[in-house]
Amino acid sequence: MLQPRKSALLLGGTSEIGLEILAALAAQGYNRFSLGAREPETALASLTARLRSTAQEPSMHSFRWDATEIASHQSVLAEVFVEHGPFDAVICAVGALGHHAGLTMAPTEVAAMIATNASGPCAALAAVADLLTNQRSGDPGRSLIVVISSVAAARARKSNFVYGASKSCLDAYAQGLRDACVGSGIEVLILRPGFVRTRMTAGLAPAPMATTPEVVAAAAAKAIVNHRGGVLWIPARLGPLMAILRNLPIGLWRRVAGDR
Ligand SMILES: NC(=O)c1ccc[n+]([C@@H]2O[C@H](COP(=O)([O-])OP(=O)(O)OC[C@H]3O[C@@H](n4cnc5c(N)ncnc54)[C@H](OP(=O)(O)O)[C@@H]3O)[C@@H](O)[C@H]2O)c1
Repeated sequence: MLQPRKSALLLGGTSEIGLEILAALAAQGYNRFSLGAREPETALASLTARLRSTAQEPSMHSFRWDATEIASHQSVLAEVFVEHGPFDAVICAVGALGHHAGLTMAPTEVAAMIATNASGPCAALAAVADLLTNQRSGDPGRSLIVVISSVAAARARKSNFVYGASKSCLDAYAQGLRDACVGSGIEVLILRPGFVRTRMTAGLAPAPMATTPEVVAAAAAKAIVNHRGGVLWIPARLGPLMAILRNLPIGLWRRVAGDR
């Protein structure tokens, strides 16, 4: 019997977490993938390697996309939707960490990080929401936007407050986008992982509750196939913990956060 074709678009097409989410979706019947990346060939090769053992032959394509080239987001993504849409899920995994970088960052580095983590993705998601709304002749179906935020969005800390601030902007934008999409058929899922062992955190001492791309992907894929929006802390116990930590008096918070 023919499987229904489910499709996903990944922005940040070389992201280890993003690719792992696609692999988890492939195991759940998704079989059409588009990757937007600064290095589209690398992204395609990485996904091909991951999906090699998939029973069904998925269709895959990649295209050049840079989060900071905001002026071209609408036209680049519109072309992708025409050529390769409609999409059931769009995942935004773009990000740059710059850990232990705050006061040491030059103004241009601060601006670049905010463009990569916040203004670029927010602008792209505006285009995505518009394109999802208008796909399938104005019927978005049950489509889902997945935004990878971070535990760092919950409260800024001295070691990486530029990253935290940029993720906080993206997170708030995604929350508002979710509200704006109510009744449209489009849901928004916000992932707030803690420390995940990927190339982004290579060389850093793992934080408590450190996890893996596979764990993040399993939680994300479960929510995606069930068309469940909202906020997903990974691991889940980070949610109640951060509810306490974000309300700690500042002196205590500084001691808890330390140099981490
Ligand atoms: N790892 C963690 O501990 C952790 C925790 C919480 C949240 N997150 C978030 O999870 C997401 C994925 O991170 P990851 O761990 O999978 O790390 P990753 O493999 O380094 O993924 C980051 C992605 O962002 C892309 N990117 C960076 N700047 C870009 C730009 N200007 N235009 C387009 N793409 C750009 C990278 O592409 P290139 O290959 O071109 O560099 C890469 O695909 C990020 O948003 C990150 O902030 C990660």
